[in-house]
Amino acid sequence: MNTPKRYTITAALPYTNGPIHIGHLAGVYVPADIFARYQRLQGNDVAYISGSDEHGVPITIKAKKEGITPQQVVDKYHQIIKQSFIDFGISFDNYSRTSAPIHHETASAFFKKLYENGKFVEETNQQLYDAEANQFLADRFVIGTCPKCGFEESYGDQCENCGTSHNATDLINPKSAITGNTPTMKETTHWFLPLNDYEAFLKEWILVGHKNDWKPNVYGQVKSWIDDGLRPRAVTRDLDWGIPVPVKGGEGKVLYVWFDAPIGYISATKEWAKAQGKDWEPYWKDESTELLHFIGKDNIVFHCIIFPSMLKAEGSYILPQNVPANEFLNLEGNKISTSKNWAVWLHEYLEDFPGKQDVLRYALTANAPETKDNDFTWKDFQARNNNELVAIFGNFINRVVVLTHKYYDGIVPEPGTFNEVDEDTLILLKRYPKIIGKSIERFRFREALTEMMNLARLGNKYLADEEPWKKIKEDPDRVRTIMFVALQIATGLSVLSEPFLPFSASKLKGMLNLNGHDELNWNALKTAETLIAPNHRINEACLLFAKIEDSEIQIQLDKLQASKKANELANQKIAPQKEIIAFDDFSKLDIRIGTILEASKIAKTKKLLKLRVDIGEEVRTIVSGIAESFSPPEIIGKQVTVLINLAPRTIKGVESQGMILMVDTPEGKLTFVEPERPVDNGQKIS
Ligand code: MF3
Ligand code: ZN
Repeated sequence: MNTPKRYTITAALPYTNGPIHIGHLAGVYVPADIFARYQRLQGNDVAYISGSDEHGVPITIKAKKEGITPQQVVDKYHQIIKQSFIDFGISFDNYSRTSAPIHHETASAFFKKLYENGKFVEETNQQLYDAEANQFLADRFVIGTCPKCGFEESYGDQCENCGTSHNATDLINPKSAITGNTPTMKETTHWFLPLNDYEAFLKEWILVGHKNDWKPNVYGQVKSWIDDGLRPRAVTRDLDWGIPVPVKGGEGKVLYVWFDAPIGYISATKEWAKAQGKDWEPYWKDESTELLHFIGKDNIVFHCIIFPSMLKAEGSYILPQNVPANEFLNLEGNKISTSKNWAVWLHEYLEDFPGKQDVLRYALTANAPETKDNDFTWKDFQARNNNELVAIFGNFINRVVVLTHKYYDGIVPEPGTFNEVDEDTLILLKRYPKIIGKSIERFRFREALTEMMNLARLGNKYLADEEPWKKIKEDPDRVRTIMFVALQIATGLSVLSEPFLPFSASKLKGMLNLNGHDELNWNALKTAETLIAPNHRINEACLLFAKIEDSEIQIQLDKLQASKKANELANQKIAPQKEIIAFDDFSKLDIRIGTILEASKIAKTKKLLKLRVDIGEEVRTIVSGIAESFSPPEIIGKQVTVLINLAPRTIKGVESQGMILMVDTPEGKLTFVEPERPVDNGQKIS
């Protein structure tokens, strides 16, 4: 066996300001997980690391919105996110968080070391400021036009449209995201990492060194930024949420979130190593370690330019061997959006499809946005499940297990002589670990998944061609050989499917009664003559994948439709103000509180109710167009607001002697204007 290799595999630390959705899984965590699981099955030494990114402006914005503290925000979502990862089988060796003391210490020490070694430039200058909010405007506190691509909603530190990172003062037409005000300028002091000093290093390391092994989307972006020239970037902020700047003059300031967060990979490794009784340093400092950062494309600049420059400045760390960033996953043709609730949330998916984690992992991998943005559709999800997982993988396994029980009481039969087809099939089986592994090593997870399914197809075809069910009577010897071969393929699948479908692989191992057979690893499959031995007893068949019905898909489509509707309503423009009136005009209106005593539908109309309303001195008859919002019994006894001096009008033969004031709601239903507490009928509104 090859000597084991050490891998430090990081997956972007998610912002802890909301739950996670399919875009996160598809872009980062599933591919990284496939890679980590594959390397473990190869017998390599893996640290698969992530954690919650708990600092930064998005969290303080969320806290403000919800009227709670940033700590409460991160405590809540850390739990939810962590649970989603566990639920979906994301096999982190450690999922930590940046509010952990070990992270504060590590990030603080890192900053201090750079500071003491003169790696920063300290500068006092004018920064954007919102006087009303009493807040310097950096990062997501400010929105303006991107100086590079012209996108009008760029953040202060990065444009989400073109991915470029910049300083807040570079924005054209900046506006405060807190108040909408145009910022003023105010003087403040910060520490800058002079990225311009790292240009030569970055050129040599990436543009020359990784021209051929980095993904073209990653390489291309990095090249364009370096070619444009790099400038110093502030690594501190005037905020109160974050890691305090640990040097003189840093009082009241914190580290920029993108300075502290990637150091979170290091802290999380330390935390893990400590718990395991291991030394963390080889995972970050030994040249033979392969360091890999799995991220989404919006994180490229931070992982390929800023963090490597920090590591270089520190001096004792290795650099990433690769940064296999993915593009974005869209949902049913639209960009996934948290604020528009255009997403499939993992915790909600599990409520609707309990036990079907692997189906989602499968559909997301098959459709992963590896080289371009891609679209997730529920129809595709259903088709992948029904036509591939159920019809091919599940069908093959089910046949093998059921027939083994039927013919041999669950005992693996002794094969006879192999014919040419058997031999070819067994040779192909031995090739799959390498074929699939190669694709995984090149970060081509879609291709790897297709190959894994091709092995299941091979098994299916083998059984369909050999038709053991037709030969069992006249040629039982031949059938023993066929079933032996089919069982070898099923066993191969139980190992080779594990990185992609960990839950199903484990069920399959259970069915084959192979739990604990650790000799069955990825490499053994390449050479072993027998994967599952004659006379071994397997267990009963259980269902691996079940058909997903149209009705289940329709529920999901309806959910999205509801989000779309809600967004449209929310975006409806507020009606413009009517023309100005004099106070005298207003005082002509006689508006009072009354109580509805009787209500009945007016025949042959959809909208109209006839009401009897007590307005104090008298009871009035009022015709009101509220029948689509209320049924008569539910409004009896309600206090309402009545315009009592409106000229009477006869509607459908009923004289209406006033008007009830109503509120239009976004859902199109009307609602009453009610006094906050019951008052006497006839009380005036002025
Ligand atoms: N929280 C960031 C995001 O969601 C990713 C941080 S990755 C790390 O875009 F490198 F900073 F950890
Ligand atoms: Zn831009």
